[in-house]
Amino acid sequence: MARPASRILATGSFLPPVTRSNADLEKMVDTNDAWIRDRTGIGERRIAPDGMVTSDMAAEAAKRALARAEITAREIDLIIVATVTPDMPMPATAVFVQQKIGAACPSFDLSAACAGFIYGLSIADQFVKAGAARHVMVVGVELLSRVINWGDRTTCVLFGDGAGAVVVGPALENSERGIVATRLYSDGSLAESLMIPGGGSREPLDEARLHDRRNKVHMKGQDIFKAAVRNLYSASQDLVDSCGLTNDQVDWVVPHQANIRIIDQVAARASYPKEKVLSNIERVGNTSSASIPILLDEKTRDGTINANDLVLMCALGAGVSWGAALVRM
Ligand code: ACO
Repeated sequence: MARPASRILATGSFLPPVTRSNADLEKMVDTNDAWIRDRTGIGERRIAPDGMVTSDMAAEAAKRALARAEITAREIDLIIVATVTPDMPMPATAVFVQQKIGAACPSFDLSAACAGFIYGLSIADQFVKAGAARHVMVVGVELLSRVINWGDRTTCVLFGDGAGAVVVGPALENSERGIVATRLYSDGSLAESLMIPGGGSREPLDEARLHDRRNKVHMKGQDIFKAAVRNLYSASQDLVDSCGLTNDQVDWVVPHQANIRIIDQVAARASYPKEKVLSNIERVGNTSSASIPILLDEKTRDGTINANDLVLMCALGAGVSWGAALVRM
């Protein structure tokens, strides 16, 4: 196996201060704490207050990652912001992040929904490997509370707001530490199962479409659930196998936090012991592209994940698009 070309130098995350509990949701829709916990594992989620925008959260996470990497924003050569909830359709949220952190580099957004962070990490790895960038800021950020129909109990209980960031830089010489390998996939045949149908060229927004909430998340939850269990297992297993490794050599699994039952089923299929599979879904819900970098940051800072630990990340979301990454921290 080739030595990694790039590694994660540091992580950072940001969660907005407002908490919305399951009890709060009971007052908004016909649901209850027991159903939400039992069917999803979620107890509460964070909601961005009025006036806070996606790039505010992304910039805060990015600044925290920069501080931990001990480099300045001017040393960043590329900013990738993975999000499906941009500040606006144009320009990219990444350019607002560039301004807010004081960087001066190419910056673009990436749309791969919940898999966005894995896509961003993979692109960052390619840029560093090719010598086209030394330091890449990868941010996963979502302000989903603004695109949720708060009257739809089948979706509003699931999602939360937040941001996570990593600084990717060159691997150390003669070191095993770094991004070992990544895998990316899409299957557009399931595109209709999870979408915000209105607001693009297919359904420009007008009064009727706004009335029908076409600008909000529409989801066939069971289709996504089945696709997630099947594809997250196979992508993760293929990745580990193709690296000549075995699952028991993986120290930590950092899965996308969509539903604790998806996480448990994928882990059971791959025979990962529960204690190796990390989760914060109870506190933050599904933050889509932000979920893996938030969890990675929390578990790195609290000392769970340490240098040289082998971490498997995997995520699936709208598209459906999915991916997996193996990283020796
Ligand atoms: N509270 C109470 N009852 C509810 C709620 C709720 N919030 N939501 C649905 N129900 C009801 C349904 O109406 C249904 O009632 P019925 O039997 O009388 O018709 C019953 O609960 C069961 O509904 P199901 O849809 O079968 O419930 P399921 O066990 O499939 O759970 C869920 C639904 C949680 C959405 C699940 O399908 C899921 O997690 N899917 C994956 C969703 C996901 O991960 N999406 C995001 C991934 S992509 C991304 O991250 C952007």
